[in-house]
Amino acid sequence: MSVPNHVAIIMDGNGRWAAQRGWPRIKGHKEGARTVEDILEAAADAGIRHLSLYAFSTENWKRPSLEVGALMALLRMNLRMFIPKLRARGIRFHHVGAVEGLPTGVLKDLRALEAATADLDRMTFHLAVNYGSRLELATAARRCVEDGLAPEAIDEAALAARLWTADVPDVDLLIRTSGELRISNFLLWQAAYAEFYLTETLWPDFKGPRLREALDAYAQRERRFGGL
Ligand code: IPE
Ligand code: IPE
Ligand code: MG
Repeated sequence: MSVPNHVAIIMDGNGRWAAQRGWPRIKGHKEGARTVEDILEAAADAGIRHLSLYAFSTENWKRPSLEVGALMALLRMNLRMFIPKLRARGIRFHHVGAVEGLPTGVLKDLRALEAATADLDRMTFHLAVNYGSRLELATAARRCVEDGLAPEAIDEAALAARLWTADVPDVDLLIRTSGELRISNFLLWQAAYAEFYLTETLWPDFKGPRLREALDAYAQRERRFGGL
């Protein structure tokens, strides 16, 4: 059975999960954070080498400030709790996203977790926070200019090397939970030839067995990359 090297997940449906129970949205985000832990374990056990999770987009700042504040507080708490948990599981942490616009405390916790897990290599956990693919691509283009590249030197490799995901292999399997059928500005470049797996399951319910179903579906796919 072929195991995807890089799995990316748009973790969606926390708010609806809470609403179905008559609870405030933040309770859905809290349960969603528990799912992250479960999926990290299941992904590493399955032999996945790169796991990218979309936690907060450049567009999510449009949400009410109360929800944004609660999400940032929950994120900071989890980043700190992850230090011993990721170390125990041999998982390296990497933030993908813009630094500008992030609260300084969040940035400090992201950097601290990266530093605390830098020597680990069982799996790399890329967390997309303040991430938007269009901003990433525009930033990479600007970096090409800042680096003094001649127009003929700007090719796919030059751009890829200046993305926040430089050195990260392309996405093999892209999962979105909660029944939405869109990409929402996530890894547009990196997922050019990714297989899609869309499920109605809401993110708080997407635990290990659901990931294994997605991996089984992936193993049945025939990938062509434009060839025959
Ligand atoms: C995903 O769940 C988490 C974030 C985008 C931060 P949502 O908060 O988008 O939940 P729904 O889509 O409203 O159910
Ligand atoms: C995408 O979910 C962003 C994350 C999961 C972090 P959204 O809930 O923000 O996406 P839309 O608004 O439904 O496209
Ligand atoms: Mg949503």
